[in-house]
Amino acid sequence: MYKPRVYVTRQIFPDALDLIETVANMEVWPDDEPPSPEQLRELLADADGAVINVMDRIDAPLFDAAPKLKVLSQVAVGLDNIDIPEATKRGVLLGYTPGVLAKATADLAFALLLATARRVVESDKWVREGNWKISHHPMFWLGSEVNGSTLGILGLGGIGLETAKRGLGFDMKVIYHSRTRKPELEKEYGFKYVSLNKALADSDFLSIHVPLTPETNKFIGEKQLKKMKPTAILVNLSRGQVIDSDALYKALTKGWIAGAGLDVFDPEPVPENHPILDLDNVVVLPHIGSASNRSRREMHLMGARNLLAGLKGERLEECANPELYETLGI
Ligand code: NAP
Ligand code: GLV
Repeated sequence: MYKPRVYVTRQIFPDALDLIETVANMEVWPDDEPPSPEQLRELLADADGAVINVMDRIDAPLFDAAPKLKVLSQVAVGLDNIDIPEATKRGVLLGYTPGVLAKATADLAFALLLATARRVVESDKWVREGNWKISHHPMFWLGSEVNGSTLGILGLGGIGLETAKRGLGFDMKVIYHSRTRKPELEKEYGFKYVSLNKALADSDFLSIHVPLTPETNKFIGEKQLKKMKPTAILVNLSRGQVIDSDALYKALTKGWIAGAGLDVFDPEPVPENHPILDLDNVVVLPHIGSASNRSRREMHLMGARNLLAGLKGERLEECANPELYETLGI
C-alpha cells in the first residue's frame, strides 16, 4: 500500500513525530539552522505533505518544485511566510496552530511588560557586574507603575485577548484597537474600543498583537510613535516588521517613548552590533512567545494531526484556506 512521503523541516516533539510515522514515510531536517529556499525545494520535490515552520519561505517556486503536495502544516499561528493565495490556487491545504499558544504568548507579553517597566533585566545585569554596593537607596532603580495604568491592545485576537485579561488581573484599564470591534468582549470584560490614534495617545503600555500583512507592515512608524506618551512602553510579540525599527530606535533615544519590550524584531535575529542592543530601556528576547513545553508540544501535536487529516483528504483541525474544502469536495 502507498505510504505518503512527509518532510518535517525542523526537530519537533517526539510524540508528534511518532504520530506522523504511523501513516507516512517521514524524514526530518536534522540541523538547527533551517534549510535554505533551494534546499527546501529539493527536500519537498517528492513530498505529499510537510510540517513547516515560520522561517520556511513558501512561495510559487516552492509549489512549482513540489507538485505532489496536498497539505502543508505550519506549527505556528502567524502565516506571513506563506503565499496563501498561491497555496489555494494549487489546491494545497494549509494547517496552522491558533489558540493553543495564546496563553503562553500572553504570559510572555506580560513578562516583557513587567521587565521593561520595572527594569528587571537592567538591574539584574547591574548586580551581576558587581555594582550593588549600597543595600537600598530610596531614589535608585525607579521604574513605571503597572497597576492602575492603561494597557492598550493592538489586535484583539487570540493572544491580544489573553494579554488584555492579564491586564485586568493587574488592575489596569484596558483599551483596544482592532480591525473589527468586539462588543461582546467589551461587555464581558469592560474593554474600551478606541481609534488607533487614541490607543497610541492614551496607552501607558501598548502591546501589539496584529498579524503581519500588507496593511500592518510598518504599522508603527515615526508618525505613530510621536503620538505616544513619553512615559509609554511599547511591547511587541507580533512580527518585527510591524514596527519600523529605525523609527523605534529614534523614539527610544529621543525620548518619544520610555521603553520597549521586544520578542520579535526586524531583522531577525537582531544583528549583534545593532544599536538597539546598547539601550538600557529595551528588553529583547529571541522570538520565544510560545516557547513553553506545554504549548510547543500542543502545537506540534496539532501540526501532526493537521498534516494527517490533509493526507487523508479530510478537513483539518485548523485550516488557513478552508475555501478549498468545497473545491476538494471534503
Ligand atoms: P489572531 O487571533 O488572528 O489575532 C489577530 C488580531 O489582529 C485579530 O483580532 C485581527 O482582526 C487583528 N487585526 C488584523 N489586522 C489588523 C489591522 N490591520 N488592524 C487592526 N487589527 C488587525 O492571531 P493571534 O493568535 O492573536 O496571533 C497574532 C500574531 O501574533 C500572529 O499572526 C503572529 O504573527 C504573532 N505571534 C507571535 C508569537 C511569538 O512567539 N512572538 C507567537 C504567536 C503568534 P479582527 O479585529 O478582525 O479580529
Ligand atoms: C510564532 O511566531 C507564531 O506565529 O506562532
